[in-house]
Formats: sequence, C-alpha cells, structure tokens
Amino acid sequence: MHAVPVLFSLAATVSASKALHYTIPNNFKALASNCTLPAEFVVTNFTTYTDKADDSLNTVCFQFGDPDTKIRTTCQRNSTSTPSGPSKNIYGCDDASIAFIYQTTGVAGLTLTEKACPSAGNPKLEASGLIAPELDCTDTSTGTLCHAKQESIQGDFDSLEPIPPKVPTRRARGAWRG
Ligand SMILES: *[C@@H]1O[C@H](CO)[C@@H](O)[C@H](O)[C@H]1NC(C)=O
Ligand SMILES: *[C@@H]1O[C@H](CO)[C@@H](O)[C@H](O)[C@H]1NC(C)=O
Ligand SMILES: *[C@@H]1O[C@H](CO)[C@@H](O)[C@H](O)[C@H]1NC(C)=O
Repeated sequence: MHAVPVLFSLAATVSASKALHYTIPNNFKALASNCTLPAEFVVTNFTTYTDKADDSLNTVCFQFGDPDTKIRTTCQRNSTSTPSGPSKNIYGCDDASIAFIYQTTGVAGLTLTEKACPSAGNPKLEASGLIAPELDCTDTSTGTLCHAKQESIQGDFDSLEPIPPKVPTRRARGAWRG
C-alpha cells in the first residue's frame, strides 16, 4: 500500500522519457536530445475496402496518433493516392512526417513510419512499427468492407532507420490486393 505514491511518481518520470524499443545511433544522440523521439502510436478506426473488380477502388483509412510527439493525423489510401518507395507501397498521411504500408502478404499488417525530429531541418531517420489489426469484414455486392475489431490499437515503434531515398514515381497505383 505505501508503494502506491512511489509508483505514481515513477510513472510520471517514465512518461517524460519513455522507454524506446530501438537504439539511438551515436551520431544522432546530440540532435535527439533536443526533440521528442517517436516511441509509440495509436491507430483508431482502421477500415479497408477491397473491390472485387477494380484494385484502384481499394481504400485504407484510419486515424494516427502519437501521444509523445503530439502528432494526430488522418491516413488514407484511395484512388487518388500516389504510393512511393522502392515497392510503391508507401502511402503518406495528411501530416508529412507520417506514412504507412498496409499489406496482407509478406510483412502482413499495418506498418507506420514517423520521421524523427522533423523540426531539426531535414530529417534523416524514421521510426517504424508494425501492428496486425484483427478485422471484422462484410461482403457487399461490389467488394469487402473491413473494420478493425478494436477501435484503438496501440503499437510500438521498434526501429529507427535512415529514411530511404526518394525514387521518382510514375504509376499512381500500388500492388496491394486485399
Ligand atoms: C538544441 O536546442 C538549443 C536551443 O534551441 C540549441 O541552441 C542547440 O544548438 C540544440 N542542440 C542541438 C544538438 O541541436
Ligand atoms: C470512428 O468511427 C466512428 C464511426 O464511423 C465515428 O463515430 C468515430 O468518431 C470515429 N472515431 C475517430 C477517432 O475518428
Ligand atoms: C483521398 O485521400 C486524400 C488524402 O490522401 C484526401 O485528401 C482525399 O479527400 C481522399 N479522397 C476521397 C474521395 O476520399
């Protein structure tokens, strides 16, 4: 029972510098000491639609929140989205620091990336983490509509890696199939 106040004060200290699930590279430590690094994220209202006939009508939509860096943004893939990355499967969120990959094969699930210390000029590193939303799906005459069983899903960023160089994109569609 006496331990309770101590636990509360410990929790307050921990939330100020949350345990990270990755190692900060030595040459990034000075810069990182001046900013809040991405530690965890929350995905809300994850929804997908997979069309039976036309891949370009497939959509992915959710809300992203990072409680530490205070970024909240909408992420979606729809017929007007342009994917980037070597596999043309990375979609940007409304906040340019956040991007995602959603795939049901390979590294299956929802990968989120967040640029580290974007206010320090040209960000060079990004954190990433994967969650695997469990879906409830409904078939319609045109396709399949799925919604995550959990309204909010918490994930940990577990890697901090250099941001891959931008490659020119020509096609407007990725290869994702539901
Ligand atoms: C950290 O921020 C302070 C104040 O903004 C600045 O003077 C200092 O140069 C920064 N240090 C690094 C390593 O970026
Ligand atoms: C999630 O979706 C429901 C139903 O579409 C909506 O009422 C709710 O506001 C959404 N929550 C967030 C955080 O967007
Ligand atoms: C498609 O997604 C973009 C953001 O990526 C959004 O601005 C636009 O409103 C979306 N279009 C539709 C039809 O939902």
